[in-house]
Amino acid sequence: MHQLLSIFAFLSSLVLSFAAQTPLTSPSTPTLPPPLIQVDVRQWNLSASPSVDSVSHLVFDTVASLLQHWSNSRYRNGHNVVPGIVPIGTLLYHGRENLEIPTGPEWTAVDPEHSRIFCRGAAPDCWHLTFVTTKSLRVLHFDGSSAAKLYGGTLDTQDFLAWNRTRPEWVMEEAGRLRDLCEWGKKYQLDGFSRMQVDFEVMLCDFSPLQAVSYVQLSPEGPPYRFPIMTDRGLDPPFVPQSPLGMAYKLIEAGAWHNFYPGESRIKLDLTRLVSFYDTDLFPSLVQVRSGLSRLEHRIDGISERDIQAYHDRLDEVLRDFGNDVSLSASGVDWRTLYQVIVERYADRLEMLRYILNATEPTAENYSQNYTQTMDSAMYRLHLMLTSYALQTATPPTDGRDEDRVWASPVFQHCATTHTSSLFPFRSSFSRSELLLLKALEDTNREICRVVVKLWAEGIEAGVQPSFPLREPGDEFLPVLKRWKANIDGLMGWLDWSTWRKCRPACGVEEVCYMPTWLYFKKTPWPFLKQPIDLNLIDDSEEWRNPTPRCIRILEPFDWHNP
Ligand SMILES: *[C@@H]1O[C@H](CO)[C@@H](O)[C@H](O)[C@H]1NC(C)=O
Ligand SMILES: *[C@@H]1O[C@H](CO)[C@@H](O)[C@H](O)[C@H]1NC(C)=O
Ligand SMILES: *[C@@H]1O[C@H](CO)[C@@H](O)[C@H](O)[C@H]1NC(C)=O
Ligand SMILES: *[C@@H]1O[C@H](CO)[C@@H](O)[C@H](O)[C@H]1NC(C)=O
Ligand SMILES: *[C@@H]1O[C@H](CO)[C@@H](O)[C@H](O)[C@H]1NC(C)=O
Repeated sequence: MHQLLSIFAFLSSLVLSFAAQTPLTSPSTPTLPPPLIQVDVRQWNLSASPSVDSVSHLVFDTVASLLQHWSNSRYRNGHNVVPGIVPIGTLLYHGRENLEIPTGPEWTAVDPEHSRIFCRGAAPDCWHLTFVTTKSLRVLHFDGSSAAKLYGGTLDTQDFLAWNRTRPEWVMEEAGRLRDLCEWGKKYQLDGFSRMQVDFEVMLCDFSPLQAVSYVQLSPEGPPYRFPIMTDRGLDPPFVPQSPLGMAYKLIEAGAWHNFYPGESRIKLDLTRLVSFYDTDLFPSLVQVRSGLSRLEHRIDGISERDIQAYHDRLDEVLRDFGNDVSLSASGVDWRTLYQVIVERYADRLEMLRYILNATEPTAENYSQNYTQTMDSAMYRLHLMLTSYALQTATPPTDGRDEDRVWASPVFQHCATTHTSSLFPFRSSFSRSELLLLKALEDTNREICRVVVKLWAEGIEAGVQPSFPLREPGDEFLPVLKRWKANIDGLMGWLDWSTWRKCRPACGVEEVCYMPTWLYFKKTPWPFLKQPIDLNLIDDSEEWRNPTPRCIRILEPFDWHNP
């Protein structure tokens, strides 16, 4: 057996060596790495699931979702702060009620549908300005719905940066927040900050790196709007009357262009300088803060003094020598693409597998008692996922028991290491952030492979081969299929990729699937901006607490309230 294992290992290392020809190596003839002597079955144990304390899946999902509107609308309390650039030649938009170029910190939108909303004052004028960046802007990106003016955590990462604490009484004090962030960012020559709400925005500390391309006068849209202003008496809240639904849809539509990968690509992030609040080495105090909470409730408030200091120190490290070309990252590894490769390889296949396994549920639309057929379909999906990992020599022993399925360990190892083992030699050039990215990728890919290979190995042991003769009705498969369903539900729950949150049944032609986001929930109290919304004071706050996609009408009469 061991001799056989070492042959599998050698064969798999051959395959790995061909996959390892990355530009990182010096240009010379590829060489074979030393063969793996044997697979360590303790390390590649198909029964060992990840620790309950693991955060790798959360790092993975938040990083894979950066700049994507869908996921950041659902998980609106951001956990990543990432330096990035807005390249030269990018258009940014700004709407206002007079023709003045801002002299201090102000907002710009990446889509004119967003900025247009800000040019409806009491005055009859609506000035819409288009700017172009004349150099690459250095920005800091806050993920999540970091521009949603809510109590409950959306502003945490900004507030701890500006003030070392949250300031619920200043949720609406956007000008003050930006002023203090800009003050902080001066020492790093930051030009601004990027955030997301219904669409993405770039808050600039100074407009001098921009050149005006056009200024046009448009007809004001909607009823008069008054911005919040700071007075001697304190904050004078803005006044926003209920606006026509069609006007809001324009903005919802623009935001949705950035729903999925690559998301908002005018902002380019340098992942080698990413700071993640799921990094438990950097922010150990948050482990306790998150304990017992659902992912939707995770936030930064509650962080210790020591960890606030760590936040400042880490940002100081990553921003001190931050250039303005994100392609010149520490190692040259394209992490964003590598993460996307994993998501693409498994997202649809796992979803289809879950659907197939659902057929054993009497209430499922696809309920079937033909277990042979269900088993066959499921096994085909598992084969697809393991297409280049299922070694020819990995077969169950015919002469006895192998309770830990040691025979399948080489397949597990090959599947789990194929995207990352080639990076091993370059670890020394990785930044601290890259080591976190690597670990999250390894752990996440490993758990996918563990579950998929385990199911596949069980299927092989049960004699289900691609060419296997379909017997009827296959009652003996029912307990196996039930167990598989639990395993796949468990895996997909752990991964928790937002791409699996869909409208079921699919929306009609006159509708679109909408992930509810601030400020367009079913029950938005109007006027919504008079004060920040406190979810505890809303009767029907389920949609606010647990954003779940639903179909909304996009032809007149528009309606995001009730489908
Ligand atoms: C594999 O993991 C399971 C569950 O943690 C454990 O019971 C078993 O002993 C492990 N097997 C090996 C060979 O380490
Ligand atoms: C926040 O804490 C950092 C690190 O201790 C310190 O340098 C900074 O001055 C503090 N900022 C404020 C507004 O207190
Ligand atoms: C599985 O079936 C249940 C009903 O038993 C249904 O609610 C659920 O949406 C189905 N899931 C999939 C992925 O088809
Ligand atoms: C699932 O349901 C659809 C629609 O009822 C049907 O066409 C299909 O054959 C079913 N698949 C299985 C595996 O039963
Ligand atoms: C079960 O499915 C298989 C494959 O589609 C088919 O050949 C067989 O006739 C089905 N059995 C029953 C009882 O429907």
